[in-house]
Amino acid sequence: MEEFKVQVANEGHKHLAEAICLEMEESAKARGTGIAKRNPDYIRQKMEEGKAIIATSKSGDFAGFCYLETWGHGKYVSNSGLIVSPKFRNSGLATKIKIKAFNYTRKKYPDAKLFGLTTSAAVMKINSELGYRPVHFTELTDDEQFWKGCSSCINYPILQSKDRKLCLCTGMLYDPVEKNKKKWDFIKKSKIWDRLQRIKDVVLLRPLKKIEGFSLEFKRLFKLKYQ
Ligand SMILES: CC(C)(COP(=O)(O)OP(=O)(O)OC[C@H]1O[C@@H](n2cnc3c(N)ncnc32)[C@H](O)[C@@H]1OP(=O)(O)O)[C@@H](O)C(=O)NCCC(=O)NCCS
Repeated sequence: MEEFKVQVANEGHKHLAEAICLEMEESAKARGTGIAKRNPDYIRQKMEEGKAIIATSKSGDFAGFCYLETWGHGKYVSNSGLIVSPKFRNSGLATKIKIKAFNYTRKKYPDAKLFGLTTSAAVMKINSELGYRPVHFTELTDDEQFWKGCSSCINYPILQSKDRKLCLCTGMLYDPVEKNKKKWDFIKKSKIWDRLQRIKDVVLLRPLKKIEGFSLEFKRLFKLKYQ
């Protein structure tokens, strides 16, 4: 099995930013889900600031990536943009990246609440192993800049129509004050989550179908997913 180096990204990784962004976009298209768009400059900035985790293959290629951002004057830290190159998936690499990001974030911001938004069952599983639990969006940061990041997602009209309280993504939170509480058991609860996710998709997407002039791209994705 291929070996990877999983580390805090630095200036020396900046040349990989384009490949990372391209893969993020391609993967979102393939999954037919929404995603906040990132550009290579932003990814490079995260690398410079030491706010990204990267996994590279033996030959130095990009294998996986995620970054962190602070919100509400450091009260919250999000881990976002998790991506694993398709050829390296299903071998535990995302788990390694998330563990590295989690430990690094906890050390750097020991009092901060950690959170993320996701539509991915794999991420739900990894996060719950780390001690995150699913939460209502009102438990997440109210920092306007964070939510502005969602405006490039195709599902943004849904988030707006629900007063930013819910969307197709699930919000997950790790609260250091609660760390001794029992973990949220993803394996036990995954069937319920899966059912809720499907209901949420149908209920939240239906009204948007009716909005005149709603983007053709969105309609195409909707058809792919539900017809
Ligand atoms: C989601 C993603 C990061 C997972 O990467 P990965 O390296 O294949 O994940 P891992 O191998 O570490 O798997 C983690 C766990 O999730 C499970 N898993 C992986 N893909 C899954 C899927 N599609 N559905 C359900 N569970 C899944 C694995 O079985 C594993 O569980 P285990 O520990 O019991 O074996 C990768 O598929 C990806 O980059 N997808 C596109 C981008 C994306 O969806 N990012 C998340 C945005 S929030």
